[in-house]
Amino acid sequence: MHPVEEIRGEKSSKLNGKCILLCVTGSVAAVESFYLCRDLVRHGADVVPVMSEAATRIIHPDALEFASGHKPILSLTGGVEHVSFCGESNDKVDMVLVSPCTTNTLSKITLGICDNAVTACVVTALGSGIPVVVVPAMHLAMYKNPVTMKNLGLAEELNIHVVKPELTETKARIADRDEIVANVIRLLGLKDFAGKKVLVIAGASAEPLDDIRVLTNRSSGRMGVALAENVFERDGDVELWLGWSREKPPEYLRVKRFESVMDIHRMVEEGKAEGFDVIVLCAALANYLPEKHRGKIGSGKKELKIGFHEAPSIVDEIRRKHRNVFVVAFKAEESKVGLEEKAKAFLKEKGVDLVVANTLSSFGANESEVLIVDSKNEVYNAKGSKDVLAEVILSKIKKGVMFF
Ligand SMILES: Cc1cc2nc3c(=O)[nH]c(=O)nc-3n(C[C@H](O)[C@H](O)[C@H](O)COP(=O)(O)O)c2cc1C
Repeated sequence: MHPVEEIRGEKSSKLNGKCILLCVTGSVAAVESFYLCRDLVRHGADVVPVMSEAATRIIHPDALEFASGHKPILSLTGGVEHVSFCGESNDKVDMVLVSPCTTNTLSKITLGICDNAVTACVVTALGSGIPVVVVPAMHLAMYKNPVTMKNLGLAEELNIHVVKPELTETKARIADRDEIVANVIRLLGLKDFAGKKVLVIAGASAEPLDDIRVLTNRSSGRMGVALAENVFERDGDVELWLGWSREKPPEYLRVKRFESVMDIHRMVEEGKAEGFDVIVLCAALANYLPEKHRGKIGSGKKELKIGFHEAPSIVDEIRRKHRNVFVVAFKAEESKVGLEEKAKAFLKEKGVDLVVANTLSSFGANESEVLIVDSKNEVYNAKGSKDVLAEVILSKIKKGVMFF
């Protein structure tokens, strides 16, 4: 058994059964292709590397053979690899991913030039309808060259999916690996959220005690980020409102930040939650708001009393303002005892469409267990990483949305 089998499907089965031709060209970012290849395998894909001659001077083909379990294709032979992998054949691949894509290769593929194994595979794939993704990486001046700009436009006209680079002062730096993988999954995976607009509200609220101190909680925001990532991967249009969280959401997500319950209250009042098909409220929000002290509460007091008043219920506001939206609410309870009954009662009281109930042990944990109750009072249990739970929750949302 090749060592790559030890990691296949380790992260998910989102790319199970998919074969990806990973074309690596002569950018210094070619060193990243080793890790990209391994990540695609971790999601279940079979990855076949193809390398330009310039790429082999930056990363040795043995490294990509180790990462993929396949000998990289370095040139075309009598086996007409471009035809067998990318032509009208039964064994054709599901995607051609050019990562990194040099200025040179981008120019060639938009002109239909096929003078090496990489360009021949891309040109053949474009003719047989196989999705092609390019991930440019180059010096900023090469990127800003008007010919490169024109070629990027041409690539989009040719239905080539471009994962845009991050522009710094000197570089058009290759997109993050997570962004490349998310785009691959979005193109090849389930597309059951296509055309659906989803708002995810996540993270902890932080309520001001004075001008510098806040009262917050241990929610990490990871569940909401995982939900938003999974909506993106399932071809949905997602926006994430993220409160206090140490989680760094990926660059490709559209994110708005909030701090306190009153921030969300204002955002909802201003109509910022309008136009969504689904709203998922998994933020851990304060139920009571402290009376805010102006300036800084001084030290040296023997006792300090702070008054609290009840916070507005965001779930009630969302339900009231957005009657036809599919609303999912999370409910945290101290223990599993009576969790199902409490979740069912909460669903009825709040008039939401789905409740995801968990216990306090989920807060900040990597793995957790949830109980999902739908509007027909059907109950499901799910356990695993936040990514696994996000997959299950989205499937239940999808089931519910179809009933509209
Ligand atoms: C160390 C090194 C790093 C390079 N990095 C890049 C790069 O990031 N982007 C790019 O467009 N070209 C880069 N080049 C130039 C390309 O390797 C060169 O244009 C080559 O002809 C590309 O061939 P290919 O597209 O067939 O791989 C680099 C060259 C070297 C030697």
